[in-house]
Amino acid sequence: MNGDFTLYTPTKVVFGHDAEQKTGALVKAFGGSCALIHYGGGSVVRSGLLQRVEASLDEAGVRHVALGGVVPNPRLEKVYEGIALAKQNGVDFILAVGGGSVIDSAKAIAYALAEPEYDVKELYEHTRAPKACFPVGVVLTIAASGSEMSDSSVISYEDKKRGCNSDLCRPRFAVMNPALTATLPAYQTAAGCSDILMHTMERYFVQGPKMELTDAIAEGLLRTVMRFAQVLVSDPENYEARAEIMWAGSLSHNGLTGCGNDGNDFASHRLEHELGAMYDVTHGAGLTAVWGSWARYVYKNCLSRFVRFAKNVMQVEGATDEETALLGISAMEDFFRSIGMPTNLKELGVAPNENDILLLAKNCAKATGGKVGSAMPLYEADMANIYRMAKE
Ligand code: NZQ
Ligand code: ZN
Repeated sequence: MNGDFTLYTPTKVVFGHDAEQKTGALVKAFGGSCALIHYGGGSVVRSGLLQRVEASLDEAGVRHVALGGVVPNPRLEKVYEGIALAKQNGVDFILAVGGGSVIDSAKAIAYALAEPEYDVKELYEHTRAPKACFPVGVVLTIAASGSEMSDSSVISYEDKKRGCNSDLCRPRFAVMNPALTATLPAYQTAAGCSDILMHTMERYFVQGPKMELTDAIAEGLLRTVMRFAQVLVSDPENYEARAEIMWAGSLSHNGLTGCGNDGNDFASHRLEHELGAMYDVTHGAGLTAVWGSWARYVYKNCLSRFVRFAKNVMQVEGATDEETALLGISAMEDFFRSIGMPTNLKELGVAPNENDILLLAKNCAKATGGKVGSAMPLYEADMANIYRMAKE
């Protein structure tokens, strides 16, 4: 029925100054006796975070092994490496120390360990649904994907980037110290803020009835992220701004801003995932590069939502509803540019030719079962049209 929903957010959030010191105690409290610490390309080594987390595990009496080297748009090969290392060492808990890529890789390892008789790739191919998952904990270093509370894991393999969604992989805990994100390059901060905005917008531009409270939360979240993202452009070490963005990142993708929706859109995400698969672009930047084209392609089909967005979020209004909607879209693109994000594929640094566009659309249609979107259902030809519009 309209407005019915289930919200499941089992993740214990430990937020604030020096929160990472509690990691060991948390792993232990959630039953871990031997943790696989999973991390990325080295930022956590350089910052000293890895050492602090290891010390915290030692103090709690939790054994640990470590596996770094997760790349943005994490690869299945690294997941297999993690599975082997975990099996050799009797690991019973996966601890992700990093961002969405590390967390998603950790979730994949956790799925594999819980059902060792199967190849975990099948979950991403959707030829099998997961039935179990080892516990995952997170020490978050970038506010972006929301994976620290989400039900999702996105893995790249061959020329594909595919997601697996299940409540089983929602992390047991997320340690969030906003100060840890102060070392992010400006581009990653901005891409992260954009991803956070997108996770709420994907739930905002939908057909069907909406709850007023959910809309108010979503609009407040969007305004807050935009305000503090701009603060971070000139003052990247501002703790208050880092904290606002970090908390928004989790709330944007844990389900809260979709409560009462009949369905979510996520077309921009699915269009981006194909760009990620083909060109290995930064997720948040890929999203901003297609969003404006997507919005202009679909807004007439979902006009009242775009009008509300323009007025309540972007605070712009034109003479007609259509003008208001278009002003809202332009204002959001202006915002993306103001934090250094691309608003088309050329600015993203990729130049697909017509064959590439047809392949992107074909792959996107294949990955989405032929159709994606709530604001306006998109089919393969629509996907190709949006990629074409997004070229420059
Ligand atoms: O690898 P290191 O050296 O750590 O560097 C990372 C990486 O280069 C760096 N970084 C992270 N924290 C840092 C830092 N550098 C300095 N200081 C810090 N504190 O940032 C770069 C990006 O890291 P990544 O983990 O890739 O970023 P993000 O959190 O944006 O994750 C992106 C991945 O998540 C997926 C995306 O598709 C992409 O693969 N998503 C996952 C979702 C989910 N599981 O719910 C939802 C999202 O929509 C998204 O699809
Ligand atoms: Zn995203």
